[in-house]
Amino acid sequence: MKRSIWYLFFLVIMLHSCETPEELTSYVPFSAENPTTKEKISLGRALFFDKRLSKDGSVSCATCHRPEYAFTDRKPFAQGIEGRFAERNASTLLNSAFLETVMFDAHLKNLELQVLVPIQEPTEMGHNMKALIPKLREIPEYQQSARTVFKRDFDAWVLTRSIAAFERSLLSLNSRYDQYMKGHKKALNEQEVAGLKLFNSLYCVQCHPAPFFTNFKAANNGLYHDYGKDKGRFRINLDSADIGFFKTPTLRNVALTFPYMHDGSFHTLGEVINHYARGGNHPKGQNEQIQAMNLTSQQKQQLIAFLGTLTDTSYMKKFRKRAR
Ligand code: HEC
Ligand code: HEC
Repeated sequence: MKRSIWYLFFLVIMLHSCETPEELTSYVPFSAENPTTKEKISLGRALFFDKRLSKDGSVSCATCHRPEYAFTDRKPFAQGIEGRFAERNASTLLNSAFLETVMFDAHLKNLELQVLVPIQEPTEMGHNMKALIPKLREIPEYQQSARTVFKRDFDAWVLTRSIAAFERSLLSLNSRYDQYMKGHKKALNEQEVAGLKLFNSLYCVQCHPAPFFTNFKAANNGLYHDYGKDKGRFRINLDSADIGFFKTPTLRNVALTFPYMHDGSFHTLGEVINHYARGGNHPKGQNEQIQAMNLTSQQKQQLIAFLGTLTDTSYMKKFRKRAR
């Protein structure tokens, strides 16, 4: 009897440690108003990769959010139709199911609302919903899926709900860091462990706390004295206290999402760390946590090594060999 209880105990532990990112989906918050289903994700995925969503048929969501670059595009400023530059650096969409606020201005409540922004933005996809919806409704696969999944004709509701459901399926939570935290001590080498300890001892964790390495809040991390034409969250309420405030990005997959910051102004993690080490540029409004600190070049290397352990590209198995 006793023995079988132990057996059961080990079985549970084993099942637990075999947990794959897919199994983590059960923890993913989903919108009660837009529950995720397989069919919805697959419609959203087709739309996400479809260039017909842009005015001239040249740009899809995936043009700026490329799976292999952790759903960013490696350009300082994302590039939309006719080679036009968007105002900012493209954000990763991995783990976006967990976002508490959406966009650098931290002003949108959910992913559904966000979908309409790039479609109608003149520098991104440049379309308008009035013209786009009838065009998409004429595509038999989209109209059929809308009828099956949503029991209605293809419309803006279907478009925004299905793309948001697809985005919520983009999970990347099984990095070497995660494996280490689950007890696989060999998942990190000595330098990476030193980097993890150092990171946890620095002020970084105030704004970039585990598990998502962001507190989802906007902050001024001291980039510029004059933010120029992009003053961050200021543009939402024109409140001068918001100048230079941008939503703190996740550090998961940060080794893949260069260049960094809302304007892609830092190309390497070394540049980012030097920025913080000198205590920022001290503009008005800079968060007071950010202070100069003495980091040796070895410590900087340890931090960079640790940030590299937050990469998990297992989601890519769903995206190999995808033509764009
Ligand atoms: C021309 C390039 C471009 C295209 C096309 C594009 N995006 Fe983006 N995306 C960006 C940029 C730049 C940002 C950051 C903008 C900001 O926060 O102000 C962004 C931000 C986002 C965010 C916010 C992420 C976060 O952390 O808050 C989501 C979600 C998103 N995009 C989804 C989409 C979807 C869905 C589509 C297609 C309907 C799309 N994007 C098309 C460039 C693009
Ligand atoms: C006061 C909050 C705050 C603190 C403290 C802070 N950050 Fe940040 N971090 C931010 C904000 C806000 C941004 C985005 C700024 C922007 O886009 O202009 C950012 C951006 C970054 C980026 C770029 C991410 C990307 O995808 O573009 C990295 C890397 C980073 N921080 C690492 C660190 C490290 C390492 C520390 C500690 C030395 C640290 N941060 C401390 C708020 C903070």
